[in-house]
This record gives sequence, C-alpha cells and structure tokens, in this order.
Amino acid sequence: MRTQVGIVGAGPAGLMLSHLLHRAGIDTFLIEARSRDYCEARIRAGLIEQWVVDLLSETGIGERMKREAMFHDGIYFSFDDALHHINLRKHCGRGVAVYGQQEIVKDLIARRLADDGQLHFEAQGMTLADIDSRKPTIHFTKDGKQQTIECDFIAGCDGFHGIARPAIGGIATHYEREYPFGWLGILAEAPPVADELIYAWHERGFALFSMRSPSIVRYYLQCAPDEDADKWSDARIWDELAIRLGGDAASRLKPGRIFEKGVTAMRSFVCEPMRQGRLFLAGDAAHIVPPTGAKGMNLALADVVFLSRALTAHYSEGNDSQLENYSKTCLRRVWKAQRFSWWMTQMLHRFNAAKDFDMRRQMAELDYVTSSEAAMTSLSENYAGLPMAAA
Ligand code: PHB
Repeated sequence: MRTQVGIVGAGPAGLMLSHLLHRAGIDTFLIEARSRDYCEARIRAGLIEQWVVDLLSETGIGERMKREAMFHDGIYFSFDDALHHINLRKHCGRGVAVYGQQEIVKDLIARRLADDGQLHFEAQGMTLADIDSRKPTIHFTKDGKQQTIECDFIAGCDGFHGIARPAIGGIATHYEREYPFGWLGILAEAPPVADELIYAWHERGFALFSMRSPSIVRYYLQCAPDEDADKWSDARIWDELAIRLGGDAASRLKPGRIFEKGVTAMRSFVCEPMRQGRLFLAGDAAHIVPPTGAKGMNLALADVVFLSRALTAHYSEGNDSQLENYSKTCLRRVWKAQRFSWWMTQMLHRFNAAKDFDMRRQMAELDYVTSSEAAMTSLSENYAGLPMAAA
C-alpha cells in the first residue's frame, strides 16, 4: 500500500493533520494502536485558544463546538480567601473556549469517515523503517495480517509513549523537568461555582475549577505524583475543594455525583529536533507541558497546522523551505508555552520543601499578576494563545 503522508496516532494532532491535508488534496493513511471507542472516550484537558476555535470553524468542523462549547472572556485566581478576575479579552482582544479534547476527537473522526478518509484503529506491532530514505514505511499487523504502508512522509502523532520519538533515536536531545506532585482530576454532575475557570492557590495545595457543560464540572486537586485515587472518597474530595477554593466559591459549592476520577503526573518535556529525515513529530510525541496553562492540545494543533502548511508547499509548489524549518518553527512556540506552563505551575502549587519565603513570594506574584496592567496583559496573551502567524 502507498500513501503520501502516513500518520501514526488518532489523537487531536493526527486527526487534525489528516483533515487539513485532505482539504489540501493530499492523501493520508492514519494508523492507531487503540480502538476508536478508546480514543473517543479518553478524558483529557478541555481548553482551546481562540485561534483553535477559528480553525475548527474555518475548516468545517466547528458546528457542534459552536453550539456546545462554553466561551470565556476571562479567568479567576483565588488566593487569600478572595477571587481575583482577569479579563483576557480586555487585555489581549481574545478569549478561550471550554470544549473537551474527546469532543474534538469525536468531531474529527466523524468528519474523516464522512470524507472517506483512511483511518485504521487497533493496529498491532507498529514499527517505522527507512525514515532517512525517500520512501519511509510503516509496518503493522491488522486482523492477523502483516501490512506495510510506503509513504513520502511520516507524521508521528502518537503521544509521549508512542513509537515515533524513539525512532528519531540518537540525534535527539531531551529537555525535561518533573514536578513533585500530580493532579487528581474528577468529573461530576454538579452546578458550576463560577462563570469562568478558577485557579486557586492554597497552602494545602493547588485546586482548579473547570467545566464541561452547564451541568458537568471538572475539578483538579494537587496531590502526590503517585497518589492512589481510590484513597479519595467523594466526601473527602468535596471537603478538600471547599477548603482550597475558599471564600465565595466554597460557599457556592454543591457536591454532586462524581463519575470519573484519575491522577495525572506533571512534567515538562521537549525533544529537539522534532524531525529526522522524513519523520516529523507533532504534539505529545515531541513535547509535554504541565496542564496548569492548558497548553497541551493547543500546542499539538499548532504543530500540525505548521506541518500541513509545509507539506502543502512541498506538493503544490515543490518548495521545501517550510519542511526544512518545521522543527525550528514549532519549537519557538513550544518553548514559549513551556515557559508559560512552568511559570503558572510554580506560582500556584505547594512545593514539598516550600518555606515561608517561597509562599510569600507566590502571594506577591499573584497579587502583582492580578493588579498590574502589564502583568495582566502578559498573562492574557499567553493564556489566550500567542499569535499563529508564520514564525
Ligand atoms: C480542563 O478543563 O480540563 C482544564 C482547564 C484548564 C487547565 C487544565 C485543564 O489549565
């Protein structure tokens, strides 16, 4: 079998890439190790930057998002028992939207299938070969049969634990930071405690209020990186949220049925370069951010927008300069998001060895960030998403 672009992984990056390339008249073949159900049910972050809202609309997959997403102009920080609001739109002209990653995945899968796209789930034993040649290949087994796809290019969109990054091997440098905590995340049927997200600093640890719909809330609590979610009874979760959210938000908190509980580790990671030969990495395969800045999916989508532009220039004009610059273009944006995510994380979390000095420094930083026009502008342009103009 042959294709122009072989794509590994059916997360937001791989699916969006196949959608964008299809619109440009470029043939793709997407292979995923998991089942379609698994990909559609996998619960991840839920915040999209303004340009992603526009991208979904402009490329014809924004219908349900426009109806169901929750559009926010600002965010709250909670500290010192009070809520402090930052109006993103006022400070940078843009807002954000809450729309779960799995909703984007469902919309993209439905659209690719309606467009007769080649999507293949439950592929076993996937390997990549000859990535330095002009004909890189993907090998896998499906329904007991060995298959080989010969490609012009391969996009590795298969996440942090996938096969694509190891295939880059020796030439890559990894930059990494682990944090001494994780997030316990829940989904619950309960009324919202605020009209926009709340990032809460508390001496017992960070808490975040987010939402998925008018009746489904998403909360996170800072916990140990290896925390056993089963040790958290529903009552303990609601009690802890009330303490950490504090003030007005706590008084509005109404416990409801918790139907999802899970622990996420927190790390910052970048693989450089994001390309070797004809293999291009995108999304979590190349970089991980801690979720505090809500940048993971947005970065993954930015990578594939750059990659689709570069591949379009290759096929339509024979111009490879964007392909040559792919890694550099992506990494400029990636490192700014790394910096922002790290900064939000260090400002809001309780560190094990934190001394009074560090806590007072965090309070001063939060006070500054919620009162200085310059600081609010800086936070807003990063949070709502840096411009997507060419690098
Ligand atoms: C989420 O809704 O899952 C979410 C929102 C904001 C974050 C992280 C996660 O910073």
